[in-house]
Amino acid sequence: MKKHIVMLPGDGIGPEVMDSAKMVLNTIAEEFSHSFTFESQDIGGIAIDRQGTPLPAETSAACKKADAVLLGAVGGPKWDSNPSHLRPERGLLGIRKELGLFANLRPIKGFEKLLHASPLKEEVVKGSDLLIVRELTGGLYFGTPSERRDNGQSAVDTLFYSRAEIERIVDKAFQCAKQRRGQLTSVDKANVLESSKLWREVVEEKRQQYPDVAVEHVLVDAAAMKLITNPSQFDVIVTENMFGDILSDEASVLTGSLGMLPSASLREDGFGLYEPVHGSAPDIAGKGTANPVAMILSAAMMLRHSFGLNEEANVIEETVESILNGGFHTADIKAAGGQKVGTKEMTQKIIDSIKTRN
Ligand code: NAI
Ligand code: MG
Repeated sequence: MKKHIVMLPGDGIGPEVMDSAKMVLNTIAEEFSHSFTFESQDIGGIAIDRQGTPLPAETSAACKKADAVLLGAVGGPKWDSNPSHLRPERGLLGIRKELGLFANLRPIKGFEKLLHASPLKEEVVKGSDLLIVRELTGGLYFGTPSERRDNGQSAVDTLFYSRAEIERIVDKAFQCAKQRRGQLTSVDKANVLESSKLWREVVEEKRQQYPDVAVEHVLVDAAAMKLITNPSQFDVIVTENMFGDILSDEASVLTGSLGMLPSASLREDGFGLYEPVHGSAPDIAGKGTANPVAMILSAAMMLRHSFGLNEEANVIEETVESILNGGFHTADIKAAGGQKVGTKEMTQKIIDSIKTRN
């Protein structure tokens, strides 16, 4: 398979973890006889420094022509006092919008040997392996009117969803559930919100097409509670934009380090942008200690969701898990024992293990 990948390393530890992902992808290409070509473009702070804008036209154009996009992270203290049009995160929001990415996927898994690093009790996080599918381009963050009224003394935002918008995100979630453990939890506030009642109707209709997926509806407040009291009960969670924003941040603490969490943002045709959940970590940038796992697992998601290379994605995910369970960890994981390694060593461990898998 031939694929062209645009890499947007960005700022801080972005370039360091991007190097790791590229090396792992090159290993996969060799092992499975694929041809991946890479092109690097500026985004965020580095784009401001080099080209005077957080999202250069050349970067947008390259992404639109690519088969998939990998993004590191943007931002840092250097640009914190810039005016809003010269803020690094403008680049990120801009590219997500230009590419029409409506589905945000965040898998969260409690790795056996790292359970102690979670702020929750080990027995609570044990066995957690869930995927949050969040609608990304509709709902309260985009509905109009959204404005001040009465000389600024009142304000309105609008939670709007069309049937078509709900159908495509719910469909994506059913597909994911089918590929995983066949269990879908739809999160809404149907006891209060009209948009949630429509959401529930659509889920109920869609489930006819997926008879092998078990469906439950959970109200968002109850879901927030269950996520930290019994996270292992979930397989795939699908929800609207704002609920997904909040629940995915809540769920991100389960594993104990941001350095472990990948994400995907997808378009209907399977095109996607893949990035770690963490930021540019300026406090450790350039030190060679960043955890490359979130970025490497983001690359695995790219193989699965944009290229349909499920076996290759599984190989990366299983290898990462075996390395972590073997006791190797980067400095962000508070470990009781095990062996602390840097970004390069962690990456090399993963590569060697992919090459020698049976
Ligand atoms: P952050 O995620 O960059 O860092 C939070 C803490 O986690 C830091 O102590 C950092 O060292 C650690 N950490 C994060 N990723 C790590 C990794 N892979 N390995 C080891 N340790 C890791 O969030 P923070 O500090 O709030 O923001 C720093 C900058 O990143 C800001 O400029 C912020 O705007 C930007 N940011 C960018 C995001 C993106 O590009 N998607 C997302 C979040 C923040
Ligand atoms: Mg958030």
